[in-house]
Amino acid sequence: MKYIIFLYSFIRKQKAALVLAIVFTVVAALAEVLFPFLVQELVNTLLKDKLILSFSFNELIASLIAVSLLIVISHAIIIWMQTINASELSYNMRKSLVDSFLSFPYHITRKFHSANLAFRIKNDTYLVSDRIRDLYSEFLYDTLSIIGPFIAMALIDIKLAVLAFMMVCLMTLISKPITNRVAVYERILQIYNSRLTGVIQESLSWIKSVKIFNSEESEKKRINNANTKVKNVERITGLFMSLSIPLGFFAQLASTIAVLWYGGLLLMDGTINLGNFVAAFTYEQLMSDSIKRYSNHLNKFASLKSLLDRVFELLGAYQPNNRKQSKPVENGSANAIDINVKKFSYNDRDTLFRDMNISIQKGERVLIVGDNGQGKSTIFDIVTGLTPLNEGYVSIFGEVLDNPDSQRWLQKFGVMSQQTQIIKGTLYDNLHIANTESTREEMISALIQAGGSELLDKLKDGLDSYIDEKGSSLSGGERQIIGLARLYLKTPEILLFDEPTTYLDNSKINSFAESLNNIVRGKTVLMISHDPRVFRLAERVIRIDKGKIAFDGPLQEYMGQARTN
Ligand SMILES: Nc1ncnc2c1ncn2[C@@H]1O[C@H](COP(=O)(O)OP(=O)(O)O)[C@@H](O)[C@H]1O
Ligand SMILES: [Mg+2]
Repeated sequence: MKYIIFLYSFIRKQKAALVLAIVFTVVAALAEVLFPFLVQELVNTLLKDKLILSFSFNELIASLIAVSLLIVISHAIIIWMQTINASELSYNMRKSLVDSFLSFPYHITRKFHSANLAFRIKNDTYLVSDRIRDLYSEFLYDTLSIIGPFIAMALIDIKLAVLAFMMVCLMTLISKPITNRVAVYERILQIYNSRLTGVIQESLSWIKSVKIFNSEESEKKRINNANTKVKNVERITGLFMSLSIPLGFFAQLASTIAVLWYGGLLLMDGTINLGNFVAAFTYEQLMSDSIKRYSNHLNKFASLKSLLDRVFELLGAYQPNNRKQSKPVENGSANAIDINVKKFSYNDRDTLFRDMNISIQKGERVLIVGDNGQGKSTIFDIVTGLTPLNEGYVSIFGEVLDNPDSQRWLQKFGVMSQQTQIIKGTLYDNLHIANTESTREEMISALIQAGGSELLDKLKDGLDSYIDEKGSSLSGGERQIIGLARLYLKTPEILLFDEPTTYLDNSKINSFAESLNNIVRGKTVLMISHDPRVFRLAERVIRIDKGKIAFDGPLQEYMGQARTN
């Protein structure tokens, strides 16, 4: 039921299309039963046998044409309405997944592999709409195309109808296991094929290392293994197909022969007439096509259910916690930043921080030090709310963070990490994201303050210069200049710098530190840096070691200690 409600919510707006598709499915199924009936009447007219309708020959031919047209038109309408519904469904489902993912907090989205997620969003929604297209119309159509011909045949002779039905079901059951095997191997073949593509793609993406380490031969072997698997599965698939297709023919022929045999006996002893006999034969054909497709429908129901479960799993990856979204809690502190961690771990095994309290006053500039992996960068993510705390709280200017990933909260921070992320587009686009209200003049001025005069001269189209998606047309230093310019445009209250000079040439660090010196003035700053030209801008040092604060004091004192050690 929850599946139906879920699916219906996506095509609600196309009720008319849904209704039309269903109505015309019923019409088409009825028309297809009507056709053999008219043939029966036609044969009986020709043989001057007893008629149910008293139509003339010409009237019957005209009716046959009309019914044919009805069948053709109904199918055209069904397919078109299905398309409208299926495209609406997959469009809305994709939209809802994308919208959810973009509004999920960062710590949830981060858990997903981006390429995998993109593939699931594209593929699962397509498959769902494809299954739905099959199900709501073809399933209905086939159900009607079993019941309709069965009743029509039963009206001719009930035993004949039961015999035809039983034979078709029996024959379908016999060939089903093999047909299912074919479907399974076709699926496996798909998987192996995409693995092969993956392996080739991987090898090509690290081709430089392949050359440097002389590993061409082992790469060839790896690709060839994947290639061999594809060949083998193709053969097995073909083998099962060579069994299943003839078996299908056999099933069809065997049930037809049964109907011809029993129908013939009934015709000979005069229970039915020739018109009935011809019609019964056609009904059997209709019924057998639909019964054969029925097992596919059942498989598709199962596959639809598991696809929808996957979609639910994606949508349910994050349940917003509305309980806490009340008004901001004041903790009364006048500090710029208060971090109070009872216990923090990324997973349940390793505790990264335990009983750690950090208070930073407005306007303080603090250097965070500690060995690699002690959690310096994690502190930044906790302060910005990107990584939620399960035990403890963070507050800025006395306000406690109550829901992760809050826009309003992130607005207060300016963050710069080792490498500034460049987005695909122009320099303008890259600055626009920092503050959508800033003017071109403000952008130029921010760039100049960030030390980007040379960069501006270099780019021929100024702000409208196109920057490569990966930023490959920019040096590490130029990227950081853009990062700084963004901070100038955003004007946040708190600045966070996480090793901003890692990818800078030594010769560029002096001028970068100078720009940094300008921007940090009067701001509350947390920084992580190994370069004295940068960290001398701090006045206080906090050293983290094994989840605790191992030092907290003036920079001078820390430097003195470091020298004596
Ligand atoms: N998203 C994450 N998921 C799980 N573990 C993480 C994640 N980010 C960092 N870690 C782990 O937490 C520890 C601290 O990382 P980090 O804060 O980056 O340290 P630092 O910046 O001091 O080098 C490391 O052991 C790291 O592997
Ligand atoms: Mg780090």
